[in-house]
Amino acid sequence: MEKISILGFLLVILCFITRDLACKGETLEGNCLRANREALLDFKNGLKDSSNNRLSSWIGGNCCQWEGIGCENNTGVVISIDLHNPYYLEEAYENWSSMNLSGEIRPSLIELKSLRSLDLSGNSFEHIPIPKFFGSLRNLQYLNLSNCGFKGAIPPTLGNLSNLQFLDLSSYESQLFVKHLEWMTNLVSLRHLKLNYVDLSMVGSHWMEVFNKLSFLTELHLQDCGLSGSISSLNSINFTSLSVISISGNSFQSKFPIWLLNLSNLVYIDVSSNKLYGQISLALGELPNLQHLDLSSNENLTGSCSQLLSGSWKKIEFLNLAINKFLGTFLA
Ligand SMILES: *[C@@H]1O[C@H](CO)[C@@H](O)[C@H](O)[C@H]1NC(C)=O
Ligand SMILES: *[C@@H]1O[C@H](CO)[C@@H](O)[C@H](O)[C@H]1NC(C)=O
Ligand SMILES: *[C@@H]1O[C@H](CO)[C@@H](O)[C@H](O)[C@H]1NC(C)=O
Ligand SMILES: *[C@@H]1O[C@H](CO)[C@@H](O)[C@H](O)[C@H]1NC(C)=O
Ligand SMILES: *[C@@H]1O[C@H](CO)[C@@H](O)[C@H](O)[C@H]1NC(C)=O
Ligand SMILES: *[C@@H]1O[C@H](CO)[C@@H](O)[C@H](O)[C@H]1NC(C)=O
Ligand SMILES: *[C@@H]1O[C@H](CO)[C@@H](O)[C@H](O)[C@H]1NC(C)=O
Ligand SMILES: *[C@@H]1O[C@H](CO)[C@@H](O)[C@H](O)[C@H]1NC(C)=O
Repeated sequence: MEKISILGFLLVILCFITRDLACKGETLEGNCLRANREALLDFKNGLKDSSNNRLSSWIGGNCCQWEGIGCENNTGVVISIDLHNPYYLEEAYENWSSMNLSGEIRPSLIELKSLRSLDLSGNSFEHIPIPKFFGSLRNLQYLNLSNCGFKGAIPPTLGNLSNLQFLDLSSYESQLFVKHLEWMTNLVSLRHLKLNYVDLSMVGSHWMEVFNKLSFLTELHLQDCGLSGSISSLNSINFTSLSVISISGNSFQSKFPIWLLNLSNLVYIDVSSNKLYGQISLALGELPNLQHLDLSSNENLTGSCSQLLSGSWKKIEFLNLAINKFLGTFLA
């Protein structure tokens, strides 16, 4: 009897010593958790590596040393995958092409339960949709799928990513669209949101209220998204940390959004190439951190240059008022 309980005690100790790894039947290969390694190999098998160069290091046991893979130091758990293409297709086609990944993205990725960062930007997953199962990678803090050639609706399952801080789905020649934005209100940790060129023309007129719920948001990039309607008012402001707002190339038909003047952290405002009209507020010159202001090509914004320029403009570096109806000369 006594022997049995001593044996049990020893087993418990042993279990503690080898920690939960041995208890769950998981093993390390080199530094890498075997289950993670197998998931990565299956993910690799779905990819097409055009030059067979990119993933040539993805062999052997220690997946933590494979190119683009990052592990937690003491546990060997995979926490980041960075396979972005460092070249731009337009600028260096040969180089870009030699790094081009495409093919399918296998759901084996879900096994990487601790994944915090996933960057596949700049590759060409031609015409496949963004996988719905990305929404199951609950620990993701960084997701960059910009210029990846994805097509179709952005899956609302991404709304499950409540730890996500950076989301970039921008694409030139984007074939992505969003039907409604409600799911986005669940992205409560979001700091940077970039949806340039994604078609948002279907989301309705309450889109700004949706983004306003994201109280940690510091950068909002919605360039050429097919948005329209009025942006002149907002009842109360939640996203007080906002420092960059870039919403050029849409079709906003309203007065200048004066609520921007309440956002003292703003560094960068680009509302160019819309259909904003009316008198511009002189208080813009008093925004204490503003470095970049682009109001150009709205055609019908009005104001007096001399009055506008008599403001403080403490940190301004770039100011574009072109193609509007500003009066007077540019003498400060
Ligand atoms: C990228 O590589 C894949 C396969 O290796 C190829 O099918 C695809 O056409 C390439 N993309 C471009 C834009 O060249
Ligand atoms: C992991 O180890 C490397 C090299 O020893 C070190 O540079 C890095 O800061 C460590 N990372 C963490 C999260 O501790
Ligand atoms: C392309 O790669 C070659 C070799 O690595 C390099 O010398 C060249 O500068 C790269 N070209 C561009 C435009 O980056
Ligand atoms: C996403 O990747 C692109 C290109 O690799 C980079 O320019 C961009 O800054 C990244 N986005 C974020 C939010 O880090
Ligand atoms: C994610 O979100 C979708 C729709 O918003 C929901 O149906 C699903 O149960 C959520 N959970 C996972 C793990 O995808
Ligand atoms: C501001 O944020 C809080 C917490 O996210 C939310 O409950 C509230 O509805 C938001 N207010 C507005 C006006 O969006
Ligand atoms: C902006 O600030 C002004 C004056 O400080 C205040 O009256 C107004 O309600 C604020 N607007 C919003 C949308 O919070
Ligand atoms: C500016 O106003 C004129 C006259 O009302 C109108 O014809 C034109 O379409 C407006 N421009 C824009 C970009 O809305």
